[in-house]
Amino acid sequence: MSVAQERHQVIAEALDHVRAIEAEQGVSKESLEAIRSVMIGVASRPELFPADEFPLPEDGSGERFDVLSVDDDARYELYLEVANKDVSTPPHDHTTWAVVTGICGLELNKVYEGDGGPKGEAPLKVGHEVEVKAGTGVCLMPDDFHSIHIKGGELNMHLHLYGLGFEHLKGRRMFDMEKGEYRGFEYMPD
Ligand SMILES: [Fe+2]
Repeated sequence: MSVAQERHQVIAEALDHVRAIEAEQGVSKESLEAIRSVMIGVASRPELFPADEFPLPEDGSGERFDVLSVDDDARYELYLEVANKDVSTPPHDHTTWAVVTGICGLELNKVYEGDGGPKGEAPLKVGHEVEVKAGTGVCLMPDDFHSIHIKGGELNMHLHLYGLGFEHLKGRRMFDMEKGEYRGFEYMPD
């Protein structure tokens, strides 16, 4: 069996498990933690994600996204993000649940608490931080805000699993910390 075939099989089995967890338990912090455990199992097989199968683009952008799996109804979209560049996003939500796990490198996730108020007049504060690296992951409920921060200089490979594919997400928001206001968040696989 080739590496690609084995990767496909391991991912298919994991996503069967993920679908069953969601069907049985719904979407909750507890069910997302169970999903995270399954996905850490996949991410802990770095030999399934050889760097030469996912090389960084030659245009120097330093980042690539590959959809590894998505259901016909756009549910359970799994991305591999490969990056070797500085990345820093504003706080944003997803309107669907998300679980990010690490294969290699370090993606710092800041998870925010509270909300910015209806007009952004209230502060959005960092509640906790999670270092997503090999063996760890972060769970996000549909209305959680997070920001991600990657430093270039090493290869980063992370698996991003979303309850629904990015192109189908509606009404996502980001929070401008300096201006203290919400804005719509365009399609962005983060
Ligand atoms: Fe995100």
